[in-house]
Amino acid sequence: MRLTTEVNGKSVTAEDVWPGESLLHVLRERMGYPGSKNACEQGECGSCTVYLDGSAVCSCLIAAGQAEGREIRTVEGLAPDGEDFSDIQSAFVDAGAVQCGFCTPGLLMQANDLLDREENPSDAEIREALAGNLCRCTGYEKILDAVRLAATRRTA
Ligand code: FES
Ligand code: FES
Repeated sequence: MRLTTEVNGKSVTAEDVWPGESLLHVLRERMGYPGSKNACEQGECGSCTVYLDGSAVCSCLIAAGQAEGREIRTVEGLAPDGEDFSDIQSAFVDAGAVQCGFCTPGLLMQANDLLDREENPSDAEIREALAGNLCRCTGYEKILDAVRLAATRRTA
């Protein structure tokens, strides 16, 4: 099929897509958005998280055919136009929440989603929001610090 979606505000088309191919694969291999990572391809790790019509989803669990005509936002589209980092990205850097970085794109999308819904989340709410995102490196404390830091800066 020909797949046409809007990715980070731009209309993007890919040809010869098998409708059952994962959206993650299409984004990374056919559309030039490699920011979302493929770690488990089973909906277990959250490293592939993107927004689909404004909701955070695991893109490895979305079939390409389901994405036709829909709006996708990837980690490449998180920073405002003309800026390198969003506030969440800066907080992750400043808090030292990135080690190998493989989990980071998914965590950034989930954290952004949380703070858009709840500007001053409790620790329990942060842990619940990020419960589907696995990190093998950090032990999670720095990640929690980063989300708290971003929340503090947003509400300052
Ligand atoms: S790659 Fe999608 S949840 Fe792990
Ligand atoms: S920083 Fe390496 S998996 Fe999270």
